Order: sequence, then structure tokens, then C-alpha cells
Amino acid sequence: MATAKAILKAPSSKPLTKRKAWAALKANHKTVGAVHLRKLFADDPKRGTKFTAEALGIYLDYSKNRITEKTLKLLLDLAKESGLRERIDAMFRGDKINITENRAVLHVALRAPKSETILVDGKNVVPDVHAVLDKMSGFCNRIRSGEWKGHTGKRIKNVVNIGIGGSDLGPVMAYEALKHYSQRDMNFRFVSNVDGTDFAEAVVDLDATETLFIVSSKTFTTLETMTNAHTARDWALKGLGGDEKSIAKHFVAVSTNAAEVSKFGIDTANMFGFWDWVGGRYSMDSAIGLSSMVAIGPENFRAMLNGFHEMDEHFRTAPFERNLPVLLGLLAVWYTDFFGSQTVAVLPYEQYLKRFPAYLQQLTMESNGKHVTLDGKTVNYETGPIYWGEPGTNGQHSFYQLIHQGTRLIPCDFIAFGKTLNVLGAHHDILVANVCAQTEALAFGKTEKQVKAEGTADWLVPHRVFDGNRPSNTLLLETLTPESLGKLIALYEHSVFTQGTVWNIDSFDQWGVELGKVLAQRIVPELGSKTEPKLEHDSSTNALIRRYRKLKEA
Ligand code: F6P
Repeated sequence: MATAKAILKAPSSKPLTKRKAWAALKANHKTVGAVHLRKLFADDPKRGTKFTAEALGIYLDYSKNRITEKTLKLLLDLAKESGLRERIDAMFRGDKINITENRAVLHVALRAPKSETILVDGKNVVPDVHAVLDKMSGFCNRIRSGEWKGHTGKRIKNVVNIGIGGSDLGPVMAYEALKHYSQRDMNFRFVSNVDGTDFAEAVVDLDATETLFIVSSKTFTTLETMTNAHTARDWALKGLGGDEKSIAKHFVAVSTNAAEVSKFGIDTANMFGFWDWVGGRYSMDSAIGLSSMVAIGPENFRAMLNGFHEMDEHFRTAPFERNLPVLLGLLAVWYTDFFGSQTVAVLPYEQYLKRFPAYLQQLTMESNGKHVTLDGKTVNYETGPIYWGEPGTNGQHSFYQLIHQGTRLIPCDFIAFGKTLNVLGAHHDILVANVCAQTEALAFGKTEKQVKAEGTADWLVPHRVFDGNRPSNTLLLETLTPESLGKLIALYEHSVFTQGTVWNIDSFDQWGVELGKVLAQRIVPELGSKTEPKLEHDSSTNALIRRYRKLKEA
């Protein structure tokens, strides 16, 4: 097993900006950056099919990017010089590539078939993964069939997942994405925010005797989740007549921390475990997906895992020039570091994927929002772009104006499906027509000449010109299924990995969220204190605390 030190040395002995391909890309950007997509397409009639890649039923059209064959070659060289191959192997081997936490990064083991062997500290973790999956399946079947009864003998109709960050965003996204496949006579709710409104609204119409809470927290110490879990406990006890024994039938836990689960009062027999080598934002296919499994059933959940696994294998084995996550990741690097783009918009033209952008925000930004390299040096290049988005066509009537005519360059990922799960007249054709129209408009725009030819008054012409030359990828899949969702998520997971490898950062820690958590713990008693607390913050924070205390007493 490679040591942290060896991993530090492995990728590239040279800092990123000193790599050969980096310098060549800088030069390439000088020429390519000045060329319009109109010209690139006019010069090569085959461009629209040449810059495409297809794997596992996902068609990636990246022809509407501001690249030439040379750019692509150089980006692929950069990946090689950055040691991407070695780092992929290191991850799949179970090396401790999360060096600041000295942990393996093995979400790929969560979807590995039973027959595989993946070692962490000399132990094969795959049998443990399948043991938990089997336990989850048994539990889900009992809930779904009504065999599992609540304390008063009623069947469970409502499932409330309590968690935050990776213990919420993945589950809620997957539930929404796969609603079509879910058990429709059950209700699924997700409580994450410590704002009491989130809990209050989630249970407002629920009956405690028919409700199961899944407390999902890797650490089982997260302030928001534990506050919500205690509130849920009180609410359930009230509705169940105050009998402490009722908790066993209405609370289960998903965690890596058995001691804290027991302390909370949940029998560890009703706990579903996972491991420190699963990062929170990479955990939706671990036991953290328990609510998803209850919703869609064990078979569909396993189909989703198969989808993840197929993409893992594609990422691990496909040549980089045909490797979807590698291509997507390198394009993000191209715009971030050479064009100075600050964001990437992810635009799913699929209503079921409405929470996909929110899910991606944690995946991408908690992973690659880093400013030091693996060996602790401050980077002299940009890292993690801001990922954001909304489903189409809604976004078109909101922020697309800025993407089309604003002053910023915003690369976009459009995601669409060939078949809809809800066939309703011409809806789907209209939806997909908009995908094609948007990417076309972004790339080619509308020239001054064209605008004038329409008889537009001279003074209005500049307002109506679309410069175009705005890049996009289009991901076209057949149907939204558990399997295709798994592929899509793994595609982005590995794109993030590719980016992080080039930037030589630790994509698997999240130290940046710690300081705020610690400060909040100090301020909570100051806000709640009955007597005037002695405040030792800065003058702004002190004043805000005093004003809040006055407001709440008024
Ligand atoms: O906010 C940081 C974070 O640690 C995320 O990485 C994680 O997904 C989330 O909090 C929730 O953590 P836990 O599952 O331990 O409650």
C-alpha cells in the first residue's frame, strides 16, 4: 500500500503550472480563445459528431466547446502529466489518497460486485458492504410490505430522513429523481435544516404511529441533525403516548458511530453502518441511501448501484480520449484555468432531476473548493468552479439571459433523455427542442447582420445581437432509470476526481466547514443565556448578538 508521502510524489513531480502541457495549453488558449465556434463548425463539417463520446448509453456531445483537436490532445497530456492514471489506480486499490484525514476513498467499493476484493488495511471490505446491503434490503422489504409495524400495531406509511449535507442531499435528490419508481402509498420527507420550520412543516400532517425516522449521520454528532433528531424523538413520544419503548419501532440510524447511536437511544440492532472510507458527499449509495431503498425497493436500489459500478469501470479502464468523466473534468479545467470562468451551470431537462444541481453543489464544491496542494502549498491557479443550476425549461425564463448576453463566460452542461417517463402529447418533444435550441443559440448566437436583416431599428441592434461562442456540453441518455441515475452521478463524481487530480488538491477532506461549526457552538449559549453574556467577539458580531437578544425578547 502506498504511503501518504508516496502519493504526494506520485502524480507529477512538477507543480501544475510548470508542466509541459500547461504551458502548451496557455499558448493554445491564445489562438483558440480568439476563434468563434461559428468558424470551428464551418471549418469542419464533421465537428458535431467528431467531438463526441459514448459509453454505457450516455452520449456526450462536447463539440460546442471552444477547443480544437490540439486543445483536446493537450488536455489529455495534462491529465497524463498530472498522474491521473496512477491516482485512479490508487483510489481503486484502496490507498489512503485522502491524505489530510489519512483515509482511503472507496465509494467505488459501495457498488462493487460481491466477487470483487478491495482491501483497506489488508481487509477485504466488499463482504461488509454486501452484508449491510442485505440487512438494508431485509429491513426495506419489511417496511414496504407492512410486516414492520409501529408501536401501536399500525403499518409505517411515512418515512422521514433526518440528515444534512451528504446525509440529506443524495437521499433527497435520489428520491425525487426516482419518484416514478417509488412506492406511492408511502410518504417520504427530508429534514435537514436546524431551522425548526423544516421539521415542523415536514411532520405537520403526519401521524407519529405511522411514521419512521431515519437518523442519518456519518458522525452522529452534527449539530443540525442531532437537534432535529431530539426534536423528532420528543414529537414521536408525544404522539405515541410517551412510552420510551416505542422508539425502537419508530427510529433507526445510519451511521459509522455506534457509540453515539446507542447514547441517543437507538438500539444498534436498528443501525445500518458504513465506514470512514466513505466521504459524506459520496455516501448516497451506502446505508445513507436507506430512505431511497425504502422508496424504490431493494431491486431498484441495486440496479442503481450497478449503474454506478458500470461507470466506475468505464472510468477505470476506458482510454482517456473516450472516458466520459475524464473529458468532462478536463473541460472544466480548461474553462476554469485558461478562460477564467468561475462557474459551471448544470441544466437538467428532466423535472425529476430538480434536486440534481443542489446535490452536485456539495459534490463539486466541498470536494474541490481547496486552495492548497496535497503538500500544503498555496496554489497559483484557480481550482473548483461554482456549480449551480436549475431544471430546464424553467431556468430559461430566469437566468439564461445572463448566460446568453451577460459579460461572463458560463460553460453549461445540458442533460436530456430520449424518452420521458410521462408521455403527454408533445411535451417531451418541446422540452428536448429547447435543449437543442439553447445549445445552438449559445454557440452560434445571432450576428449584427442577421439582426439588421430582420428590419431592426439601428439603435436596437446592439441589444438584440447574441455574440454566441458560449460553450456547452450535451449529455443525452435514453431513459431516467435507477441504473442511468447511478451512471450519471458516478460520471460527475469521477469528473470531480479528474479535476482534483489535475489541481493536485485533496478532493476528499472538508476542513473549510469546521471553523463556522466551532464558532456557532460558542455563540449558541450566548444567544440563549438568561443573563447578559460577556461578549468577546469583534464589534460587528457583538452588536448582532445584542440586537438579536433584544429582538427575541421584544
Ligand atoms: O458540513 C460538512 C459535513 O461534514 C459534510 O461533509 C457531511 O456530508 C455533512 O457535514 C453531514 O455530516 P454527518 O453525516 O456526519 O452528519
